[in-house]
Amino acid sequence: MTVITCIEDLRRLAQRRVPRMFYDYADSGSWTESTYRANEADFQALRLRQRVAVDMEDRSTAVRMVGQEVAMPVALAPTGLTGMQHADGEILAARAAEAFGVPFTLSTMSICSIEDVAAHTTRPFWFQLYVMRDRGFIGDLIDRAKAAHCSALMLTLDLQILGQRHKDLKNGLSAPPRLTLRNLLDMASKPRWSLGMLGTRRRGFGNIIGHVKGVDDLGSLGEWTARQFDPRLSWDDVAWIQQRWGGPLILKGILDVEDARLAAQTGAQALVVSNHGGRQLDGAPSAIAALPGIAEAVEGRIEVWMDGGIRSGQDVLKAWALGARGTLIGRPFLYGLGALGQAGVTRALEILHKELDLTMAFCGHRRLQTVGREVLWQA
Ligand SMILES: Cc1cc2nc3c(=O)[nH]c(=O)nc-3n(C[C@H](O)[C@H](O)[C@H](O)COP(=O)(O)O)c2cc1C
Repeated sequence: MTVITCIEDLRRLAQRRVPRMFYDYADSGSWTESTYRANEADFQALRLRQRVAVDMEDRSTAVRMVGQEVAMPVALAPTGLTGMQHADGEILAARAAEAFGVPFTLSTMSICSIEDVAAHTTRPFWFQLYVMRDRGFIGDLIDRAKAAHCSALMLTLDLQILGQRHKDLKNGLSAPPRLTLRNLLDMASKPRWSLGMLGTRRRGFGNIIGHVKGVDDLGSLGEWTARQFDPRLSWDDVAWIQQRWGGPLILKGILDVEDARLAAQTGAQALVVSNHGGRQLDGAPSAIAALPGIAEAVEGRIEVWMDGGIRSGQDVLKAWALGARGTLIGRPFLYGLGALGQAGVTRALEILHKELDLTMAFCGHRRLQTVGREVLWQA
């Protein structure tokens, strides 16, 4: 196998190893995918200022996110069905993250349950919450995250209703996959994945099955989401969730300055500028384009983070320069997981870290704390 040197190498390998239904689920955006593409393209359009003859010894990318020390301002984003990219995917990704010293966020829509991930890790992880119609279930989920010693709650605000991804409908996305002839042939051509799946009992939505009244078969994900996710979610819900949780709260999915101001008023510790990786409102701006205005509007009142389109450590530095004190990565770690399991997630983190460290140095800095907007080149 060729040497893996960048996130794109991991993506290509994942495409070969993960059944099409799940690879496509990760590598897609809603409708025309214009926002999905813009997330990456707008990063690439930013240029960096090279500085020379600056002392580059003793560098560090360590910072804090919601008061917690991290090896670099990168956390693993919550992603649904991670345990379908690779058997036991959430546990493997959480282990890679804790060994590297960055946070892992477990999605409500994970395959491995909160308790299962807690039992297989040694450090606290974060839990991402989707609000569903059944508020009793949501309260229980918050309590379960507390009992598992999760160290932050990430409340996702941009998925009351589900954007349409054409490929998921065409592929008939479900977990576990239905055993149609097409799926069986595809799985037969992905032997590593299939053997892994045969060897685990974790193949359904671990946080939900057995915990929601009357739900034991989720059928298609889209259909279930449409029925269960609460379209009435409001800022009032943020208040009761915050009270019930009582720990660090992160609000995810902010893309507008007005919403950012409202988020800052809630007393939450951080907000994530995000368009859900281009998976919700197609035609919305890229996250990196939305970031500077939001950072300026709420500066000093709430930590501003961003996600969407980060494919290199250079992107992390660019986001930092434009005001993001933390970033989340979705696809980069999913590709690593699909390609090589836990080692692939570790590889993705190593790649991003090295790129971030070298880029910071080339721009004349030894610490992120001194990096500002001036590292971006203006024509
Ligand atoms: C396959 C996939 C599943 C996702 N599932 C969730 C989820 O369950 N909860 C959530 O808040 N965000 C979810 N997201 C959005 C990510 O948390 C994150 O915002 C996005 O992936 C960032 O963009 P990137 O993939 O370009 O890094 C998902 C993203 C992907 C790609």
